[in-house]
Amino acid sequence: MRQKLIAGNWKMNCLKADGLALAKAVAEKTATAGDMPIEVLICPPMSLLGLVCDLPHAGLKIGSEDVAEAPKSFGAFTGDVSAEMVKDLGADYAIVGHSERRTLHGETDAVVKTKAENAIKAGLRAIICIGETEAERDEGRALDVVATQIKGSVPAIATAENCVIAYEPVWAIGTGKTPTVADVAEVHAAIRQELTDLLGADIANGMRVLYGGSVKPSNAKELLAVDNVDGALIGGASLKVEDFWAIAESQL
Ligand code: 13P
Repeated sequence: MRQKLIAGNWKMNCLKADGLALAKAVAEKTATAGDMPIEVLICPPMSLLGLVCDLPHAGLKIGSEDVAEAPKSFGAFTGDVSAEMVKDLGADYAIVGHSERRTLHGETDAVVKTKAENAIKAGLRAIICIGETEAERDEGRALDVVATQIKGSVPAIATAENCVIAYEPVWAIGTGKTPTVADVAEVHAAIRQELTDLLGADIANGMRVLYGGSVKPSNAKELLAVDNVDGALIGGASLKVEDFWAIAESQL
């Protein structure tokens, strides 16, 4: 049984005051909820990660939005933060290969794979993001694109415990547009099959595959009920505790 994961990606948002207030508000919700059948995760920007990890956060997981690609945990890599440093702050997860990093920073599948390996070796759970652009979908290539991204970005050391896949169609991110339930089902089934081919059925069947892209309280229940959808990666709606918690609560 795959435990659903409700994950917030704050992206480049929040200063100290509003970020800590948001993290505290989410942590209070998880503490009040007590034992939950789901996992709840927030991924604040690197500037706030240590501060957020230091807050009391029983029942709430914390992750980074990225880790360094560097082959070592320490050294001459100005501006980078290694997976070991992220783990040292108290984080549990790291997002890697978000489409904004692939697009704005030219991260290739090979780079994403290295980052995922670094995260896993540091004891973090890697959330590996994949997803097609609008043009690729229009050309009928969505399934091919995600298959290629999985082959190229998921490391051989990935297991159901240390790795999560997030399917985020690029055209659905921050646009208010979402794929149909049938499209989500088709892509998630294809991802499960690709993971089976790559890692074997045991690992693939245990690995969580999240959906991301314009998830809101109003569509969460429907999207999260689709076969092979094991949670959500949420951008905009994770910045408001009411919205983020409404999405989590839809799974309680
Ligand atoms: P939105 O929920 O704002 O569409 O962002 C999705 C996303 O990119 C999460 O990683």
